Amino acid sequence: MSQIYLTWTGCGGFEVRTDLVNFAFDPYKFGEDLATATPDFDFIFISHEHFDHCHPKTLQHLCRGDRIKQVLVSPGCCNPDGPVDEKYGDAAFARDLPVTKHIDKRFVDVAFPKYLSHIGGEDRIFPDTGTWDLGPVQVEVIESGENQRPDLPTCGYLVTLPHLDVSFLHTGDLTVPYRALENLRGRVTYLIHTKMGLSEHGAEDRSEHLVECVDLIRPEYLIPTHYRTDRVSDPIPHGTWPPDVTDANALIEWIRAKVGDRTQVLPFTAGITYRIDAPSRQVDWKWNWKKTWDVPPWRNDVHHQPDPQ
Ligand SMILES: [Fe+2]
Repeated sequence: MSQIYLTWTGCGGFEVRTDLVNFAFDPYKFGEDLATATPDFDFIFISHEHFDHCHPKTLQHLCRGDRIKQVLVSPGCCNPDGPVDEKYGDAAFARDLPVTKHIDKRFVDVAFPKYLSHIGGEDRIFPDTGTWDLGPVQVEVIESGENQRPDLPTCGYLVTLPHLDVSFLHTGDLTVPYRALENLRGRVTYLIHTKMGLSEHGAEDRSEHLVECVDLIRPEYLIPTHYRTDRVSDPIPHGTWPPDVTDANALIEWIRAKVGDRTQVLPFTAGITYRIDAPSRQVDWKWNWKKTWDVPPWRNDVHHQPDPQ
C-alpha cells in the first residue's frame, strides 16, 4: 500500500507528497512556516501572478537546494507589461515581475491552457499544447479566472500520477465554469476548490457556478481552500490575503449542501497534513488525545496520580 500526504497550507497553497514525487500548487508561506519549509518539491505550479498565488519569498525558499526540477507559471507571471496594478491594486505584484527576478530562470516554464473559457474566447491559439510530460506526473493546463487580458490567461493544473491512479485539479481562482471543463469529467480524483460559487455576504448568489463546475468535472473528492478562519494556528496571518470566513464549518456544510451527491467534500484544516492510503483513497483522520491538566481544577482534595499505562 502506498501513502499520499496532502497539506492545504492556507490561501490557495496545496502540497502533495508521495513516494515518487512531490509538488506544490501556489505556495504561500509566512514566518515560521516559511523559515522551516523544506525545499522538497520536484515541481511547483503557479496559477496566476497575484502575490497570494505567486509569492516571491516562498518561491525563493522552495527553489533552494537540488530537488526542484521545474516551475510552471501562467504567462502573466513573466509578462510585467500588463496593467496589473491598475486593475488589482495591492493584490498584484507587477513591480516584482517577472518571476524570474526571484528564481532561477532555468527552472521556469510558461504554461498556456489547453482547455479554454468562453469568456476570453474558445478559438484562441497559444504557443504550446497545454500538456506536460514531467515523468512521474502528467500535466494538463486549464484556463483559470481573473485574467488580465485574453492573451494573458491564468492557469489551473490537472496533475495526474499514473503510478498511484490519482489526479489533482487545482483551478486557481476560477470563478466561472466553462464547457471545455467537461473534458475533465471522470478524470479528477481531488478537486482543490478555491472561490467558485462563493460571494460576499449580501452579494448576488453565485452558487450555481459551483454546481455547474462540479457537474462538468464530477471529481471524486472536493477539498475547499482559499479561506481563513480566526484560529491563531491558521498558517496565513491576518493582514494578508485571503479573507476570513465567519464560520468554517458553516462554509463546508454550505458547499456540501450545494454539491449534493455529485462529489464527496473533504473538510481539510489548513496547516494539517493528511495521509491518504492508496489505492483505497481513505483519509487517515487523526484523533490526538491530549490531556491539558493533571488534576481537574475542581478536585482540590486529590493529589495527582500517574496515568495508568
Ligand atoms: Fe486568490
